Amino acid sequence: MGLIAALAGCGGTTSGPSATGTTSGSGKESSSRQSDSATRPAADGKALIAYFSQTGNTKTVADIIAQQTGADEFRIEPATPYSDDYDTLLEVAQQEKQDDARPAIADTIDNLDDYDVIYLGTPIWWYEEPMIIRTFLDDYDLAGKTVAPFCTSGGSSCDRFVDSLTEREPDVTILDPLQVNGSSAADSADDVTAWLRDNRLI
Ligand SMILES: Cc1cc2nc3c(=O)[nH]c(=O)nc-3n(C[C@H](O)[C@H](O)[C@H](O)COP(=O)(O)O)c2cc1C
Repeated sequence: MGLIAALAGCGGTTSGPSATGTTSGSGKESSSRQSDSATRPAADGKALIAYFSQTGNTKTVADIIAQQTGADEFRIEPATPYSDDYDTLLEVAQQEKQDDARPAIADTIDNLDDYDVIYLGTPIWWYEEPMIIRTFLDDYDLAGKTVAPFCTSGGSSCDRFVDSLTEREPDVTILDPLQVNGSSAADSADDVTAWLRDNRLI
């Protein structure tokens, strides 16, 4: 897919102020915890949804996952926010990619040990995850956890993100990813449900 076509799915929503920074759970236990772990091994534990979202699509999917699982949420936000100006964003993002940069994340997760399942969500930038996701993977050792990757894009798959995840976190169990087209994020509840069921997360 050409870049113009790839980028066409971007946007629609804007990134506003978020409740980011702390894990903000629903207070509700994950329904998965009530499951029989013998039949639902992937769901046997407390879950955190960690995601980056520049223009809101990935946040929309993250919120749907939270609604359906009761998992806590942590929004990965850059310490230096990206510009709302699209051309400037492209410029900065491309430079970060060229430099293999690790843009700092604004806040930290203090209780990662509490979680057995991590939903890791990202937009796809140039067929892969933005550098800030690599910062996250450098900052946190997910060894021993189950990671459920999800991505939103204009059509590109999550494959290269999952490859990168596999390389950077060799000691995690990685479930099949969920890809959602950014423009359909708000309508993805059924796809999310099917994905959660397929992965025995609900
Ligand atoms: C810098 C940049 C690069 C992108 N590269 C791709 C791409 O390679 N393939 C694709 O399908 N979409 C691409 N997109 C579109 C986004 O992946 C898509 O709009 C996504 O849903 C945005 O998620 P967000 O709203 O959570 O930030 C790109 C968007 C941006 C801003």
